[in-house]
Amino acid sequence: MTHLPVRRLLVDLDAPVQRHWCGGDPFLTAWFNALSMSFPVGEQFFIDSVRQGLKALPADRQERFANEVQGFIGQEATHRRIHGLFNARIAAHGLENTWEPRAKARLALMANADARHGLAITAANEHFTALFAEWMLTHQQVLDGAEPRLKSLWLWHSAEEAEHKSTAFDLYQALGGSHEWRVRWMRRVTLIFLTDALRQTIHNLRRDGTLWRLSTWRSGWRHLMARGGLFRESWVAWRAYFRRDFHPSQQQSTASEDWLRDNANQYQRVGAG
Ligand SMILES: [Fe+2]
Ligand SMILES: [Fe+2]
Repeated sequence: MTHLPVRRLLVDLDAPVQRHWCGGDPFLTAWFNALSMSFPVGEQFFIDSVRQGLKALPADRQERFANEVQGFIGQEATHRRIHGLFNARIAAHGLENTWEPRAKARLALMANADARHGLAITAANEHFTALFAEWMLTHQQVLDGAEPRLKSLWLWHSAEEAEHKSTAFDLYQALGGSHEWRVRWMRRVTLIFLTDALRQTIHNLRRDGTLWRLSTWRSGWRHLMARGGLFRESWVAWRAYFRRDFHPSQQQSTASEDWLRDNANQYQRVGAG
């Protein structure tokens, strides 16, 4: 069982956020904004899936997961609340969240599905999030030009994603979820996630009036595709998910622990955690 403390991030999100808050870079700003737009709806789905998964376990096997699930829910609930505040700030820039209604419509189709489907979808998304988190924590210079409070927001979220990346996966396994369905959902989630993330990023850039600048596309290439870019760096780790003996804990680094230790003044632990 993994201990997952809930932390309250000590940042003020009442103050306005600059239009190009990520170092004046329209692409990076639009990309991070897009991801943030997906978090409130996505993280609520993860919470519901994990809660439902725990309930589906026989009573005598629930105890092993109960604390971890509570910590997972606490962490994701905090993320979605804080990103909701951040999203309200960036909405003031004239952006429009088209990802959320698309995700809501798709997720509504899962309402009465077996708990293992929700968990497989959550585990696949959590793998994506964990890859993104590892990249963020090991490429913190990407956020160097951001205000300290926004840098903290993204790195705190990343650190906790790395911490709880096994929870949905372990519940899925405990419920006897198959390898075939796990990888089938990963294929679908990959397609849906990348399409949605790129669509929303482009939409944000279009509303921002910076879509057709060469510098925007250069930044996109450099931060996603070039050496050191997110997609290029994460490809091997993404593919590992398709191995039969894959487990999220196989991709462990100290980046999350390091950030949480070195930035303990940025957050407060909540409750007994
Ligand atoms: Fe999260
Ligand atoms: Fe998560």
